[in-house]
Amino acid sequence: MLRNKPASPALLQNRRILALGATLAPYGQGPLAGAVLETANVAQLEALAPGACDLVLIDADAWDASALGAAVKHLSALRAPPPVLMIGERLPAGLVRNLLRLPAADILEAPFSPEQLSAAALSLLAEAQPAPAPTSGESRCWAISGAVGGAGATTITIEIANALAMREDKDRAVCLIDLNLADGAAAAYLGAAPTVRLADFGNAADRMDASMLQAFVTPVSKGLDLVAGVRDPTAFDAVSREAVLRLLEVACECYDWVILDMPRHRRSWTLEALAGCDEVLVISELTVPALLAARAYSDEIEDGLGTGRRPRIVLNRLASRMFGPAPSMAEAEKALQRKAEGGISSDWEAAAASANLGGPVAQHRPKSKIVKDVQALVERLAAQPVRRDAGVKAA
Ligand SMILES: Nc1ncnc2c1ncn2[C@@H]1O[C@H](COP(=O)(O)OP(=O)(O)O)[C@@H](O)[C@H]1O
Ligand SMILES: [Mg+2]
Repeated sequence: MLRNKPASPALLQNRRILALGATLAPYGQGPLAGAVLETANVAQLEALAPGACDLVLIDADAWDASALGAAVKHLSALRAPPPVLMIGERLPAGLVRNLLRLPAADILEAPFSPEQLSAAALSLLAEAQPAPAPTSGESRCWAISGAVGGAGATTITIEIANALAMREDKDRAVCLIDLNLADGAAAAYLGAAPTVRLADFGNAADRMDASMLQAFVTPVSKGLDLVAGVRDPTAFDAVSREAVLRLLEVACECYDWVILDMPRHRRSWTLEALAGCDEVLVISELTVPALLAARAYSDEIEDGLGTGRRPRIVLNRLASRMFGPAPSMAEAEKALQRKAEGGISSDWEAAAASANLGGPVAQHRPKSKIVKDVQALVERLAAQPVRRDAGVKAA
């Protein structure tokens, strides 16, 4: 079952942030929502007990240079200082130098966006957090992509990820990654609200590890975590190929299953990401243009991978009574020049209601044929031997 989803990343939830500067208080409602923010005077740092807070946030503009110098000195003297984030318009060089000597510290020069502030805080919290244990066995990665827009790729990706999470029944079983970086819809369909701009993490690709991945994820249900960014029209240019591939690599180390909502248009990282997957599903609907696109798209992927491996085509929104002349399954397979891997029934009410309520169809309309069909597809695919061309490697 879905739990109430926090509007902020899991890593911020209930983290104790000591905020030095009265101007910082509103951040507790905005970019640092979910954390417990306590404002204090810079002099109070001297009484800071070990482990009393998870992050110290300092507004450098709120205090004079000598008070700030004393604060940083005090933090340096602690055996295990908490991570420190200093923000402000005027950041004296000497102070910054001393600050950055702390085991975990960062600075953010004003003006900055709320997303930059949450990303900086999350990176520091992630650094200070013990890395989750890697998964025991080899992880499996499936990519799902629509042959045409609106074919149902996101809907089916979510149902597949949820079905796998229910099947595994353990924490951190499945990671759903929305690679539609600019305007992915998976978070909205799930009723989750990502607060992180992927571009802000993209710069830290080389530092990306299991802890930092945890700073990204929005927990959706017991076994299902989501990686998705906020809407950002520049994201495809701003997030590097290395960052995407490294994200996938780390996700495969941390989760048993990694499920990708894959954009249809090819990016610099597309083929490498697909080569690291053991299943690639192309979702089509039962119209002639979609079937032709599915065939062409699947051929393009096959040629691009160059290993003879073919994506599997899944026909979505099969209806027993079609409105107007629609191809039959047999005619569809003729147009595709291959067999389809499976079909998912049409159920507009269930699909729309679930998207509106936020969550998988399996949660809101468990009796829908969509759920049954996806389950059958998942069982069939999960029983297949793993076919993979290469591990996802950022190098
Ligand atoms: N099997 C289905 N039955 C009915 N409606 C569906 C089904 N699958 C998807 N839809 C609906 O089709 C629309 C497009 O789905 P979406 O998953 O966003 O497609 P895509 O990601 O391929 O663009 C949505 O309104 C969704 O609710
Ligand atoms: Mg989509």
